[in-house]
Amino acid sequence: MKNLILDVDTGVDDALALLFAVRHPGLRLRAVTCVAGNTHVDAVVRNTLTVLDAAGVDVPVARGAERPLLSAPHDATHFHGQDGLADLGLPAPSGQPVGVHAVELMRREILTSPDPVTLVPLAPMTNIALLLRTYPEVTENLEHIVFMGGSAGFGNATPVAEFNVWHDPEAAAIVLGSGVPTTMYGLDVSYEVAVSGEDIEKLILRKDHVPRLAGRLLRHLTVSGAGEARIPVAGGASIGDAGAVCAVADPAGLSTRTLPVEVCLADGPARGQTIVDHRTSNGDIDLSGRDSGPRTKVAMGVDRERYRQLFLNTVCGAADDAACGLPAGAAASRT
Ligand code: BDR
Ligand code: CA
Repeated sequence: MKNLILDVDTGVDDALALLFAVRHPGLRLRAVTCVAGNTHVDAVVRNTLTVLDAAGVDVPVARGAERPLLSAPHDATHFHGQDGLADLGLPAPSGQPVGVHAVELMRREILTSPDPVTLVPLAPMTNIALLLRTYPEVTENLEHIVFMGGSAGFGNATPVAEFNVWHDPEAAAIVLGSGVPTTMYGLDVSYEVAVSGEDIEKLILRKDHVPRLAGRLLRHLTVSGAGEARIPVAGGASIGDAGAVCAVADPAGLSTRTLPVEVCLADGPARGQTIVDHRTSNGDIDLSGRDSGPRTKVAMGVDRERYRQLFLNTVCGAADDAACGLPAGAAASRT
């Protein structure tokens, strides 16, 4: 069982990640921390509690940073809906966030966990940078940081920068330089893991409200993400942040290379770009730390069918392949 903390800006695909995490039998979700990103942090807290309510689980949720370290905040409600959660009119949550800041909740859960914790930021990494700077002792019980963000190729917030890193580049630079092992599940790879329109309609027809909610959220993404030609399934949707949690549950589905990654912190068109050094020799200019500095496991490719099946089976919560529209026996491939 892997101990997990998700840091989110829920967010339609953060919601998919939450539903996957609470349903996967090999993951123990210890806490969820919230940060400004896709929408204001108060809406992120509300949306996160709403999703956990719908899943019927009681996991501590904490409010965190309401703005990036240095940059001004920019939301993405044009993509995620005015409420940040696809404007589905979901009921207000019954739960409340815990009475401590996200950084305090992460510290407590990491230091009291009997086994090392994997931290999974699916949002701008403001909370994580604050945690590592305030309580560096947490690194002793932190196994890995697997984050959705950055890209070894194209961007979305700008031509070269992915939203989560672009929103708080200084925070991302702190995390990458922290010495904690990191895996970058970037935008370029995340687009690859997609479900079809048929998958989505099957989810919506399920009796259980977890897959139904996943289906309704994904249906929103087929509309808001419709202009993105890189999503490989016409009429379908990428599962986005949920793919990073698939990578924690089933790392063998991801191919990675361990490379130097530097975040562009300069103002201008490249701010927030994750510059991945693919060179195999020193070249003319050694980017800071190419030889001696921190390295990151960069996702270079993903077994998209494996993660599609893993996601669908997991949110359906069953070895009920036929109902999820999968070939018989696919559920057995879950880790
Ligand atoms: C990332 O930004 C957000 O819109 C998504 O939730 C995801 O975390 C993709 O760039
Ligand atoms: Ca997110």
